[in-house]
Amino acid sequence: MSSYADEPGRGRYDKSMDLFSRATRVIPSGIYGSKNPGFLVAGEYPYFFTRAEGSRVWDADGNEYIDYMCGFGSQILGYGNAEVDRDALARIGDGDLLPCPPPEMVELAEVLAGEIKGMDWSVFAKNGTDATTLAISLARVHTGKPYVLMAEGAYHGAANWCSSNDYPILKDKAEVRTFPYGDIDALRRLFQELRGLIAAVILTPYHHAVFGDSLMPPEGWYPAVEDLCRRERALFIMDDIRANFRLSYAGSHAHFGANPHMVCMGKAVANGHPLAVLMGRGELKKTAGGFFITGTFWMSAGPIIAALKTLEVLKREGVVEGLQDKGRRFRDGLKQAAASEGYELTVSGPPAIPFVRFSSDPDLYHNQVWASRMAAEGIFVHPHHNMFISHAHSEDDFLRTFEAARRAFAYTREHFGD
Ligand SMILES: Cc1ncc(COP(=O)(O)O)c(C=O)c1O
Repeated sequence: MSSYADEPGRGRYDKSMDLFSRATRVIPSGIYGSKNPGFLVAGEYPYFFTRAEGSRVWDADGNEYIDYMCGFGSQILGYGNAEVDRDALARIGDGDLLPCPPPEMVELAEVLAGEIKGMDWSVFAKNGTDATTLAISLARVHTGKPYVLMAEGAYHGAANWCSSNDYPILKDKAEVRTFPYGDIDALRRLFQELRGLIAAVILTPYHHAVFGDSLMPPEGWYPAVEDLCRRERALFIMDDIRANFRLSYAGSHAHFGANPHMVCMGKAVANGHPLAVLMGRGELKKTAGGFFITGTFWMSAGPIIAALKTLEVLKREGVVEGLQDKGRRFRDGLKQAAASEGYELTVSGPPAIPFVRFSSDPDLYHNQVWASRMAAEGIFVHPHHNMFISHAHSEDDFLRTFEAARRAFAYTREHFGD
């Protein structure tokens, strides 16, 4: 792997930069959403990637990286897992999007109903946003009530009801109210204020805020939420899209002993093939059955077959438990590398989904310098987002990462004069 020291600093990302300037002419903002360079460190990061394998990705300029974003969490087994892709790509070759669903859709729903705790049925879609948006619609229809409660700073997708698009002309947020995560008194006050009007509370298994540290659920959180929902006859929706299969094979709610009415999954469920799933308890099946649910690509065969294989490998290889161990090893090694350069790191969230920042800098300026230096060292981390550990990350990857991290911490110290 080439390191920054071998590269002329300028020129490393030339193709990315050229592509970006072409993109700005024909694509709004060049690259939209969370992959816009503004969310990384403009000028100091690759913007376009061409290929990936295992734990590695290659950018448009041919630079190689050990990657800790894992396709924003989706590549839980590593990029291009041979078993998953062999079956999925063979099926795509035979015909992916047919007039009616593939038989494997039934098999996948059966497997999920058997494995995901408390859930009886599945609806398949493409993006996590499809699943969360469908969940709140079903909750409103089922309860006949309009309000949805979510935690401040939570991310449930890019639909108007939950995204950062907050324009008065878009009325979708009118009946969505927020509360500080983990504050049961604040939630109780909302239940009092909106008595008789609440359709659902939607939560992520732990709080991975859009900005800042992750928070684990406080003691007694789930029993208290469930009690409030029961009294109000509101539904409890678990948005497991980011965390699924990194905490428990039976769903992250099983890890925390929570009992949601519906569970939203996406990202890792098909190891990077486009699939999201909304699952629910039997008592909601009639409501879901009467609701018009569809999407042109939602029942395509390849991702469904990829999910069946992903679940098989996750279980057979004990991936979930292995990821906890790898995550702890990663966290400890990174903290040690920081300490050797005089920095303390705050690492929050579950071990396989760590959010890393300099303890002295909650505004993440140090993260920006450190992470862009890591990119120059051939390690891809995001300055403002949690990382993801995959089954493909090896001890050798970690050792290289810790070495690069130490140099990047030293660079950061010099940069800020700390
Ligand atoms: C917790 C959570 N919910 C929902 C979503 C939306 O998923 P998608 O981007 O596939 O629509 C995400 C995506 O990051 C997420 O992390």
